[in-house]
Amino acid sequence: MGQFLSTSSKSTSRILPRKTEHDITESCSDLGHPQTPLDGLPVLKKAKGHYWYPVKGPKILDACGGAGVACLGHGCRDIIKAVTAQMESYTYASYAHFQTTPVQELSDWLIKSTGGQMQKVYVMCSGSEAIEAALKLSVEYFRWKGEPERVNFIARHDSYHGTTLGSLSVSGHHTRRAPFHPLLSPSHFHHIPACNPYREEEGQYQPQHPSNNNTTTPSPTTTPSSSSPPSAASAAAAYLSHKTAQLEAAFARLGPHTVAAVVLEPVVGAALGCMPAPAGYLAAMKAVCARHGALLVLDEVMCGMGRVGSTHAWQGETNEVGEGVGVVPDLQAVAKGFAGGYAPASALLVGARVAGLMEREGRVFTHGHTYQNHPVVAAAALAVQRAVEREGLLENVRVQGALLGRLLRERLRMHPNVGDVRGRGLFWGVEFVKDRGTKEPFEPGLGVAEKVHKTAVREFRVLVYHGQGCAGGGRGDHIMIMPAYNISAKLVAEIVERVAGAIEEVFRRL
Ligand SMILES: Cc1ncc(COP(=O)(O)O)c(C=O)c1O
Repeated sequence: MGQFLSTSSKSTSRILPRKTEHDITESCSDLGHPQTPLDGLPVLKKAKGHYWYPVKGPKILDACGGAGVACLGHGCRDIIKAVTAQMESYTYASYAHFQTTPVQELSDWLIKSTGGQMQKVYVMCSGSEAIEAALKLSVEYFRWKGEPERVNFIARHDSYHGTTLGSLSVSGHHTRRAPFHPLLSPSHFHHIPACNPYREEEGQYQPQHPSNNNTTTPSPTTTPSSSSPPSAASAAAAYLSHKTAQLEAAFARLGPHTVAAVVLEPVVGAALGCMPAPAGYLAAMKAVCARHGALLVLDEVMCGMGRVGSTHAWQGETNEVGEGVGVVPDLQAVAKGFAGGYAPASALLVGARVAGLMEREGRVFTHGHTYQNHPVVAAAALAVQRAVEREGLLENVRVQGALLGRLLRERLRMHPNVGDVRGRGLFWGVEFVKDRGTKEPFEPGLGVAEKVHKTAVREFRVLVYHGQGCAGGGRGDHIMIMPAYNISAKLVAEIVERVAGAIEEVFRRL
């Protein structure tokens, strides 16, 4: 268990030009959880299994678990029993005064789930809190280590890491950042281009000479291959070296000794619409961090805890030739599927490098929230994780996830406004475009993804998660399909039919 400070003590031209943050004035319904209520939202009476039951009208099939949260579906008796039992023992205990069995057992379970690679756990309540803690622990780790100049973070454009000032500063999400721009710290948070193989197109890049990597900022219009098209393998390798060079250039620009950490989502969720990185990408990013002594922070708030078919997304990573490698982070944030919505739960997992120093030097992280290590939150998360394990649900995620991806692709392949269908496990995104050839996105003001969401709920009785920004510069529409891990093949097929029906209906009317 972690210690807390006691409170008493195709060509790159297809990536759209970036607007400045001040240019962007659209309202923030871009991550599927708008700040102002969607008009006509149904009032909820109950939720059970894979369905929401509104007060009025037929039940709604849950194809996204809310914000990718309800990984076991709704009303699961075992989890309710475990939470209730904990509440009957004690509902709250300050982490500064007591150790509690649920937190200890949950920490042990989590550490074991990483094969002992992660060694400390801080239990919190939201993804933003876990990311905020990761940023602070990165900086404090380097202070303990005698490298206080490491205060810079590198993340990516078109990324979302949370809503608090630190987590929003590290996010590269234009519309979410825009209203708060003056409060976000440009001196410590830096963004490199997203890893977006759909829009960057692997085949457009030629291998970079490794010796150039440290010093040059690669042009976004890296020379396209001239004569014959490269083989798939060499195109993939060239794309990887292009992405590696972008990160190297950021280190070089900031001064490698000033970088505390690189923050990445292994499969980009709400900001890009379930965009997996190509094989070898994460390993390549980690190698750059290792070369310069910086930490790698993985944000698995949305893609972790089983969502992509392994307990931790990094366990499913492969190298560039497709061999499983596992890319162990130094710090890792989890949330959403962690307690499946049965409690507001998140955690920061601390890897051997940071935990080892803390242990050796008896250091205590200068950080603490009132509700850290909440016993009811821990009991809920532990019960959810044990259920996933007991019921063999990771296998179901892999099997039904493959089916979901295949059916979505088959069903939507010919639709002129579906640009891309991508994902991993039970984490699939559909990106909408005006033109499949040019990949031109719709004008944001049209709210295409929101229209699909509304039509899906109102007319097809299926809930999907919608977002904007996947084409860069705040443009691009997508929806995400993230059913519970215990979904059946029959319901997967039904989800695809209803979602495809809603998409067809929206574009027929547009
Ligand atoms: C990848 C990622 N990181 C962080 C967060 C922030 O989590 P929360 O909304 O629980 O604060 C989110 C939320 O959507 C997310 O998707």
